[in-house]
Amino acid sequence: MDHTGYPELDALLPRLAAIPSLDRGALDAERIAVLGRKQGALTAALRAVARLAPEERKAFGTVSNGLKEAFETAFATREAELAAERLDVPGSTLDLTMPGRARWIGALHPITRVVDEIIAIFRELGFAVAVGPEAETEWFNFGALNFPPDHPAMDMHDTLYLSQGPGERLLLRTHTSPVQVRVMQAGPPPYRVLVPGMAYRNDTADASHTPGFLQIEGLAVDEGIGFVDLKATLTHFARRFFSPTTKVRFRPSYFPFTEPSAELDVECQICHGKGCAACKQTGWMELLGCGMVHPTVLTNCGVDAERYTGWAFGLGPGRTAMQRYDVPDLRLMSGGDMRFLRQLAGQEDA
Ligand code: PHE
Repeated sequence: MDHTGYPELDALLPRLAAIPSLDRGALDAERIAVLGRKQGALTAALRAVARLAPEERKAFGTVSNGLKEAFETAFATREAELAAERLDVPGSTLDLTMPGRARWIGALHPITRVVDEIIAIFRELGFAVAVGPEAETEWFNFGALNFPPDHPAMDMHDTLYLSQGPGERLLLRTHTSPVQVRVMQAGPPPYRVLVPGMAYRNDTADASHTPGFLQIEGLAVDEGIGFVDLKATLTHFARRFFSPTTKVRFRPSYFPFTEPSAELDVECQICHGKGCAACKQTGWMELLGCGMVHPTVLTNCGVDAERYTGWAFGLGPGRTAMQRYDVPDLRLMSGGDMRFLRQLAGQEDA
């Protein structure tokens, strides 16, 4: 109905059109406001019939009764609609028209994402995943890896011991490198494995240390593997992980179980080499330690060091995730602060 020809009836048409969107409370109030016997707006308009000339009354009566029926139908239709939305159980307070609670949507932790991505990149290069125990003997954690007994290099790992002598002590592994030994002992070369897992050191937690932390170890041993394979593979990895144009550099370093040893740095992802607080103005960020597997380690593991050579690396995905997502403090990663986790999950609005 567009217009009725009578201004006092036309004034009610927008209210007729609004009925389908009224909620329960507004619907009851509107029915009284329009059709109520005393105050109803339509009831009042109908009284105007008295003021009309007798020959005009019939036409007005037809139109106004039509409008009244239209209102009654609209109210009844909306009433039935709302009733259908409500569960009609006597005494039930369940209201299915109530808005629902926002759903919690989980997401992978940033460190988990980094680990998955690293494993995926190396999988394309033929690397499988291996795991080993977190409680280790001194021999697997140090001895087999060419740490001399009581060498100061062992101090730098600040070990958490699980048992004291006599005999060989049990400890929480200080790195994932003992799994190199377990992999090599399990069967003959070639090996291409990636080893994700927890490592533990007696460190005080600060912005870049936590006493328990994740590592990923990599090991490749085969005939004819040289330092060029290490450099090419790890450079490829860094560029796949960060960006194809990321600058990398290898710095000489020391580990008892590799010779020569190096640290791989990548261009600071925050300032792109210009120097900022995150990279301590150097323009570089340390990504991982690596080197050619020491022949003594191969021999300790029963691998023929005359025939086979290889390389290994160790990386901390927690720190890598800090670099990737520009996180200033490692402790945020395990702090469980939902505001932090939501941001990194891309759910700031959740
Ligand atoms: N295990 C070393 C560390 O935790 C890292 C490393 C692994 C270095 C393999 C070289 C080769 O610091």
